[in-house]
Amino acid sequence: MRGSLLNANQPLRIAVIGGDGTGPEVAAEGIKVLQAVSKLDGFKYETVDFDFGGDRYLRTGEVLPEGAVEELKKFDAIFLGAVGHPDVQPGILEKGLLLELRFQLDQYINLRPVKLFPGVETPLAGKGPDDIDFVVVRENTEDLYCGVGGYLKKHTPDEVASQTALYTRKGCERCIRWAFEFTRRRNNPKKMLTLVAKTNVLTYGHDLWWRTFQEVAKEYSDIKADYNHVDACCMWMVKNPEYYDVIVTTNMFGDIITDLGGILQGGMGVAAGGNLNPEPGGTSMYEPMGGSAPKYTGTGKINPVAAINAMSMLLEHSGQPKSAERIQQAIQTVTGTKMKSQAAGKMGYTTSEVGDLVCEAL
Ligand code: IPM
Ligand code: MN
Repeated sequence: MRGSLLNANQPLRIAVIGGDGTGPEVAAEGIKVLQAVSKLDGFKYETVDFDFGGDRYLRTGEVLPEGAVEELKKFDAIFLGAVGHPDVQPGILEKGLLLELRFQLDQYINLRPVKLFPGVETPLAGKGPDDIDFVVVRENTEDLYCGVGGYLKKHTPDEVASQTALYTRKGCERCIRWAFEFTRRRNNPKKMLTLVAKTNVLTYGHDLWWRTFQEVAKEYSDIKADYNHVDACCMWMVKNPEYYDVIVTTNMFGDIITDLGGILQGGMGVAAGGNLNPEPGGTSMYEPMGGSAPKYTGTGKINPVAAINAMSMLLEHSGQPKSAERIQQAIQTVTGTKMKSQAAGKMGYTTSEVGDLVCEAL
């Protein structure tokens, strides 16, 4: 997120990683909408494609080539389609590309809005767009994701495995502080930030989070500082989603509760997220939350709304909030008045037609 360094006369520079399976198809619809909105709102942008993903890995044996991260750092933002290839062992692309970029680019916020758009079906009976509208701020660089651990006596009956969660004061404080600022900016009447953790069991790591949360909260007396255990949060998200305004949570819990959130808002065809490095000059990465759905590749059945939603987030955090809002409104017109369903193959339109509809609605 270049924020303060963005110069209105300089084009917004976007690195596009289409990735695997249907990733490039949904990314193309996001770019189509970018092109349309940039004309309407009069800003310039440039895109550069990168072919990182499963095919390149199978061809060359490397996920991210030497120098790739340095190259990506020169961009204002990264727009990612999806990674995941049927011929590549699970974990290689996830760790070698997605997590590697999150860590190396220090994208310490994973921002995941849970918003039910009009016309979109939710599995929650009796809940509508007014009830399902909150945001999860997930810490994105620590916890069980840090890769600390090992084996003892591997492949024997006495095998021991350890996988360690690491939490640092700096890591949780910068995330918590950002979440308070974000809650203030969001300015929802609830003005409430809920810390989601498990302080009753994780009495070291989550105690650090708890103490830091209480301390930072003192600087934000206009925001209600709230707390839920993660298991209770899962119940409330289903029973009373309208309770939440903004949630801040650790990496692993954030991963889990945002899949629950994703299905509440209509599924992977809709949900999007941003991996943010909010520091001046930082490079953030935006992605639809769904996977590469290889079986739909080239069929025109995949839903591009999540990718278009990710493009809206990219613009919101890259100095074009007006265009971001315009896309949000256009998506809602299309889901509310045109699309039959958000499920692949059941939209009533092809992938590309949905992109065209959003452009028309801008
Ligand atoms: C996500 C994904 C990733 C994660 C995987 C693919 C490593 O589930 O973006 O939520 O766990 O963060
Ligand atoms: Mn996940």
